[in-house]
Formats: sequence, C-alpha cells, structure tokens
Amino acid sequence: MNGNLTFTMIKPTAFKNNNAGAILKMINEGGFIIKAMKLTLLTPELAGDFYAIHKGKPFYESLVEFMSSGPIIAAVLEKENAVEDYRKLIGTTNPENAEEGTIRKRYATSLQQNAVHGSDSDENATLEADFFFSKFERF
Ligand code: CMP
Repeated sequence: MNGNLTFTMIKPTAFKNNNAGAILKMINEGGFIIKAMKLTLLTPELAGDFYAIHKGKPFYESLVEFMSSGPIIAAVLEKENAVEDYRKLIGTTNPENAEEGTIRKRYATSLQQNAVHGSDSDENATLEADFFFSKFERF
C-alpha cells in the first residue's frame, strides 16, 4: 500500500441506527473513493482476531462482544494521504473530544460505540484491508 489507502468499518450501533448512508456521504464528500465495500457480521472469533492488538486491555472482551453484536460495513478508501485525512474526518477515538463536524462527533454514542473504525497507519491499513477483502473484491 502506498499511503493512498485506508480501511474503515461502520460499527454495529451506527449501522443499526441507520446512519450508514449519512456516514458514507461524509466519506465521499471528504474526497474518499470507495475501492471495496461489504456488509457483514463478524463472529466473536473474527472480531477478536481483527482487534488482537488490543488483547489483554480492559476493554478487549467487551469490544469483541460489541463488534460481533450486529452487522458492520467494511470498506477500503482511497485518497492522497488517506490514513491521516480519514482520521481527521472521523475525529478522536473518544467522541467526547471529537471536533464538531466529524463523523464520531455526529454519530458515536460512546467511546466503544464510536460509529466507525479507521486505520492508524499505512501498515495497519494494508493488514486490515487484507483481513476483509480478496483481490477479486477490490475495484
Ligand atoms: P477503534 O478505532 O475501532 O479502535 C479500537 C477500539 O477500541 C476503539 O475504536 C474503541 O471502540 C475501543 N476503545 C478504545 N479505547 C477504549 C477504552 N478505553 N474503553 C472502551 N473502548 C475503547
């Protein structure tokens, strides 16, 4: 990956609350092109693998339970400087600190249920995109 791609998930609460359309609109209006996308339901095992980097932290078990509690939308996004620009668009992990106009400020309901995930580095964007998508699912 060359720094132009990032990976996102619209989390179960945001999907359940019918905010996926509004979030995808913000993503497109933020200049991101959707390269891959799917609606899917993670098993606890898959959610645990995806968030394995957080294993052992106090919120890990509950995060795994939440992320496998309902459907999510996973997507690969393209834009110059994608990882950093997407993190600006979504706002801080804790929505209480997120800036006005960010996705998390608008649609997060708690620190855990913070509407969306966004990769924190180019390396993790590659790993996370590969976790969800084969080369036949990217356009
Ligand atoms: P995300 O960007 O998906 O990356 C890891 C997730 O763990 C994060 O968003 C939150 O949903 C969750 N998380 C991070 N820190 C905490 C915390 N202190 N308490 C509860 N959940 C957290």
